[in-house]
Amino acid sequence: MLQKQDGYSCEAGIEAEMAVNNRHCKLNSFTRLAVLASGSGTNLASLIDAVKTGIIENAAIALVISNKKDAYALTRAEKAGIPILYAQRSLFNSDEEYDLFLKKKLNDYKIDFVLLAGYLRILTKPFLQAYENRILNIHPSLLPDFGGKDMYGTKVHQSVIEAKVKKSGCSVHVVTEEIDGGPVLSQATVPVMPDDTSETLAARILIEEHKLYPKTINEFIKDK
Ligand code: GRF
Repeated sequence: MLQKQDGYSCEAGIEAEMAVNNRHCKLNSFTRLAVLASGSGTNLASLIDAVKTGIIENAAIALVISNKKDAYALTRAEKAGIPILYAQRSLFNSDEEYDLFLKKKLNDYKIDFVLLAGYLRILTKPFLQAYENRILNIHPSLLPDFGGKDMYGTKVHQSVIEAKVKKSGCSVHVVTEEIDGGPVLSQATVPVMPDDTSETLAARILIEEHKLYPKTINEFIKDK
C-alpha cells in the first residue's frame, strides 16, 4: 500500500493489477485503458462490461483514477478487480503538478489510452501533450452545442430544456486544450420531451452514452 505522504493512496495494489493482468491481459497484445471518473461511474460500468463481452476488443481497463475519494466509480472498479487510484488535489501545489503525478502513474501502468467518464477536472498541458490524440471524453449533449467551460452535469440538460430545442444527445470526442472542443468522433440523438426535467433527459441520454462510448472507443483504438 502506497502511503499518503507520497501524495496519494492506492487502495488496490500491485497484486490486484497482476490479477487483472492474468485474467484479462496478455501484456503487449492488449490495449491498456485507464478510466478517469469523479462520480457514480455508470459509464465506467458500461466500459467494464464492454471489455468483458468483447465490444471493446483486445483491451483491458488497467487502472481507474478519481479525484473524489467517495466516487462510486472507485467502488465499481474495485468490485471488478481493477486497480484504483484516488489522488487528492489538495496534496499538490498546482493543477500541473497534480496532472504530472497522474501522468507518472499512467506511465507506471503502461496505459495506452485515457478515457474520461464524468471526470470533473480540466486536464492541463503536460497531461494533454503526453497523451495527445489518446484521450477521449463523452459529453451529454450534441456538441458543439451546450459544451464548454462549466457545462457539465445537470447544467447541460437544464440549458437544453431552457433553450427549448427538440433534440439532445451525447457526443464522444478527442480531448484537446479547448474544453469540449476536440474532434467529435460520434454522436447519438434523443428527443427532448415537453415535460422533461434535467433528470429525465439525463437518464434518456445515459442509455445512449452506455452504447455509444464503448463502440466508439473500440473503433478508435483499433485504428491506432
Ligand atoms: C455522463 O453524463 C457523461 O456524459 C458526463 O458525465 C456523466 C458521467 O456519468 N461526462 P457517470 O458517472 O458515468 O454515471
